[in-house]
Amino acid sequence: MRVLGLVGSPRKNGNTDLLVSSVLDGASASGHIAEKLYLYDLDISPCVDCRRCKKDDFRCAVDDDMTTLYSKLEGADVIVFGTPLYWYGPTGKMKLMIDRLRPFVASKKLKGKKAILVTPSEEGPGACDCLVRMFELSFKYLGIDLTNKILVTAYDKAEVREQLETLNGAFEVGKALK
Ligand SMILES: Cc1cc2nc3c(=O)[nH]c(=O)nc-3n(C[C@H](O)[C@H](O)[C@H](O)COP(=O)(O)O)c2cc1C
Repeated sequence: MRVLGLVGSPRKNGNTDLLVSSVLDGASASGHIAEKLYLYDLDISPCVDCRRCKKDDFRCAVDDDMTTLYSKLEGADVIVFGTPLYWYGPTGKMKLMIDRLRPFVASKKLKGKKAILVTPSEEGPGACDCLVRMFELSFKYLGIDLTNKILVTAYDKAEVREQLETLNGAFEVGKALK
């Protein structure tokens, strides 16, 4: 299987990055093909609601790095959505990316794929209700199956490195993929 990990935090080697990497390492250990992308390295413009993606070939009219990301998303069997909690939602960059998933509503090309949500936050899992609900409803709309939620309490950069059990748990989620 192909497993695509999206890091929606601006902090490389931060908590989201380390957790997503652990899931991907677990997936690789089980023989899956894993790839990680940093959303903050990509040029992702906002959806402009032109509705071009609702007809013909369902192509997005905006020309930026989403063009590459669209084909990577289509090619993945499992997508790891990694975002820290920012004001009880995802980061702006992750939200930009999610808004641009609109072509997949009509094309249905994400239907049947699995998703894993990875979110560290200062306040912990109890503060993630709105974020989780947003992902659950959006995935339902797209026909994506949310199989795991990895919600972790962590604030300082790379703090999660000290939580060996948590990192190991993320590794096991990746390893168990089938
Ligand atoms: C702009 C901003 C908003 C944040 N909002 C929240 C929040 O609403 N609740 C919370 O628990 N943590 C919040 N945090 C803390 C981060 O979720 C936390 O530090 C997380 O571990 C960062 O992950 P990273 O290392 O992958 O960037 C916020 C951080 C920033 C920079």
